[in-house]
Parts: sequence; C-alpha cells; structure tokens
Amino acid sequence: MERQQAIVVDGKALANDIRSELANRVTELGRAGQRPPCLCVVLVGDDPASASYIKGKQRACTRIGFESVEHRLPANVRERDVLALIEGLNRDPEVDGILVQLPLPAGIRAEAIAEATDPAKDVDGLHPINAGRLLSGQPGLVPCTPLGIIEILKRHEIDMQGARAVVIGRSAIVGKPVGILLLQQHATVTFCHSRTRDLAAVTREADILVAAAGSARMVKGDWIKPGAAVIDVGVNPIDGVLVGDVDFDAAKDVAGLITPPRGGVGPMTITMLLCNTLRAYESRTNSS
Ligand code: GUN
Repeated sequence: MERQQAIVVDGKALANDIRSELANRVTELGRAGQRPPCLCVVLVGDDPASASYIKGKQRACTRIGFESVEHRLPANVRERDVLALIEGLNRDPEVDGILVQLPLPAGIRAEAIAEATDPAKDVDGLHPINAGRLLSGQPGLVPCTPLGIIEILKRHEIDMQGARAVVIGRSAIVGKPVGILLLQQHATVTFCHSRTRDLAAVTREADILVAAAGSARMVKGDWIKPGAAVIDVGVNPIDGVLVGDVDFDAAKDVAGLITPPRGGVGPMTITMLLCNTLRAYESRTNSS
C-alpha cells in the first residue's frame, strides 16, 4: 500500500487568516477614535539578512494598519547608546512594542538589551520577567516563533496531549520556550542539543518534532517517526539558498505533517509578533 504524503503546512495562508482578524481589530480601534498599535524595530549594524527581516516585519505592520517605526544604529555603536535608545522607547507612551533584531554585533550583549526593555513592551518575550512568567505559567509576552509553532499545531488539530514532543535546540528564543509551551499543552517533552547521544534514536520516538538547531538538513528522513508532525524552524543559507534543519524532500515521505523551509514557520512568527504587539497595546491602554 502506498503511503500518503505529508500535509505541507501553508504558513502564509494561516498567517493571512490571523492578520485579517488583526486588521479588523485596528479598524474597530479607529472607529472608536483610538490610535493603532505601534511597533518599534531596532537594527544595529548592516547585516543584510537582518535588514531584510526587519523590512518584512515593518511591511506586515503597515499592511494591517499598525504604526511601525524603525531605528538604525551603526555596528560600532556603544552598548550604552543602544540602552539609552531603549530607555527612551520605554518612556514613549505611543510605543507599544520594542524589538531589537538579533544577532547583535560583537560587544553588544543581547541579555543587557532584553533586560533594558520594559517587560510590558517586550514583544520578543526575552525579558527575564517574561521568561519567568512563561516558566511559572503566568500571563506574559511569549517569544513569537514558539507561539507560531503551537498555533500551527492547533490549527491542524495535532493532538498534543500525551504526545511525545522532541525539541532539537535550547535557545532562549525558540528551543526552551517552545518546549515549555508544548508542556503546557500536556505533551511529554524531550530537549535535545549538540551533546545529545544518539539523537536519531530520540527523534524517532517523536510524535511532534521541532527542529531548531540551526544546522542545514541535519534531520534525515529516517530520523522521523512515520506520521509525525515535523516543524522546521531552521533558516540556513547554503550557496545562496535558504534551507531548513530538516531534509524536506526525504522527510515529506515519512511525516504526517511538515512545515516547508519557506512559507512555513516564518510567516507565523511575524504574525505572532503582530499579535504580541496588539496584546502589549491592549494591556497598556486597557482597551481589550
Ligand atoms: N532574529 C531572528 N529571529 C528573531 C526574532 O524572533 N526576534 C529578534 N529580535 N531577532 C531575531
């Protein structure tokens, strides 16, 4: 009997559905005489990939009627000048969300930037207060990629309760928070990383596999349990092409559901940034 091919997640279509709901909310706010939510993005240095990501985020904002403000600082800026900019944005009542694009140039500590950001405007969910809230199950702002992953799984009715979920990667922005969110959905979660022994044996047990290791096509077809939901977070430039952490062509013949290397998780990450900005706006202006 021939096996059915995996459902390939259309992240753009899911994202568009959510973005049109957000656009409606902005219209309602306008009718009520209120200003739209405002996201402020900060780019330090001139990394072309970061500049392009920032553009995508700003475009997504303006398309749904959010305000979007950009600050660019040179790569050789002092950390204290970045912190001063953030403090100004914290004080600005018309700024709801602050996002400093990562990675940062050498000499500027991502942790210092996260700690300087007002937790109420921390749409990346990286401030230790928001990370602590997530861990302790309290409401707070949660990193966007993990939120997008859970939304993809929910919208495809993947049963997370009691499922074995394996996360490859342990970053503060994806690996750790997505593991905690999966745990909140009652999955049995295993975190793997570069020092995990016999990684393939662990991933073969996964009903839900999240690959967030930053290593091109490391997850092979025979690492996947037949029928599993495979979420590929990787964006690795190889010979001018962006490839995921999963060998998509091999994996799609084994998985039950899979995100493609482009148009999968990415559009959902940006959409969750918009959702976080609206949440920050609503809790700051008490307008929900
Ligand atoms: N660089 C790559 N992904 C992200 C993200 O989600 N947030 C920020 N601030 N920088 C990133």
